[in-house]
Amino acid sequence: MHDIIVTTGLSKAYDQKQVIHSLNLRVEEGEFFGFLGPNGAGKTTTIRMLTGILAPTGGTVTIDGHRLPDEREEAVRSLGAVPESRGFYEWMTAEEYLAFFAELYGAERMRIDELLAATGLADRKHALISTFSFGMRQRLGIARALLNRPRILFLDEPTIGLDPQGQEDIQRLLRKLNRDGVTIFLSSHLLNEVSSLCTRIGIIDKGRLIAEGTLAELQTKSKMKGGSLTDIFLRLTGGTKS
Ligand SMILES: Nc1ncnc2c1ncn2[C@@H]1O[C@H](COP(=O)(O)OP(=O)(O)OP(=O)(O)O)[C@@H](O)[C@H]1O
Ligand SMILES: [Mg+2]
Repeated sequence: MHDIIVTTGLSKAYDQKQVIHSLNLRVEEGEFFGFLGPNGAGKTTTIRMLTGILAPTGGTVTIDGHRLPDEREEAVRSLGAVPESRGFYEWMTAEEYLAFFAELYGAERMRIDELLAATGLADRKHALISTFSFGMRQRLGIARALLNRPRILFLDEPTIGLDPQGQEDIQRLLRKLNRDGVTIFLSSHLLNEVSSLCTRIGIIDKGRLIAEGTLAELQTKSKMKGGSLTDIFLRLTGGTKS
């Protein structure tokens, strides 16, 4: 297995304010990596730099062996991104929406039916997006990110605001994608979700990676043997004094 995501000294400042401080991250191919941190810790900023949307102010990002920004085109070909919030084209049907992005990305149009089925939207193919529930929109966003058969899928809080069934649907889909070999990089505030899905977890706080490892390794690091991810998270991020 090789490291499919590597950052060295990755940093970002907005104006004069440093929000990401020299992040060194490694994710191996095939991993289901959970990226946690309190609000404002820098998760979205980091994901935007990893997916080539936002330029770092320091350090490097290498995706599937391709260094950003010089090899951005090759790097972007390896990845799919489901952003924190996305614009939908309300007047399009699900099929038209995916066809539009397939064209834009140069993906095969034949994948559209397959992706609608995989995301449980086959029967909504001809429905207008304006009639979609929040959960359906989330799943359509994932279908869009999968158009180019990415080897790495980045998701920024994909289950936020979904009911339990909606969360479960997305979790099942992500598990299947990971079983099929897709490396997953997931940011989420739902710690039960992260515990049950992720093989390795990184915790970022105030722009710094403060812990990284399997749940067992995080338990050891935080001196909370047998502790839940919530206990560990709160202790490491100073959310509790216990
Ligand atoms: N465009 C911007 N201009 C200036 N500061 C920004 C910008 N985007 C984010 N920030 C700041 O960068 C820091 C990290 O924000 P970011 O959105 O990456 O956090 P996050 O971990 O994704 O938080 P959340 O859990 O709330 O989504 C915050 O202090 C935020 O205010
Ligand atoms: Mg965010």
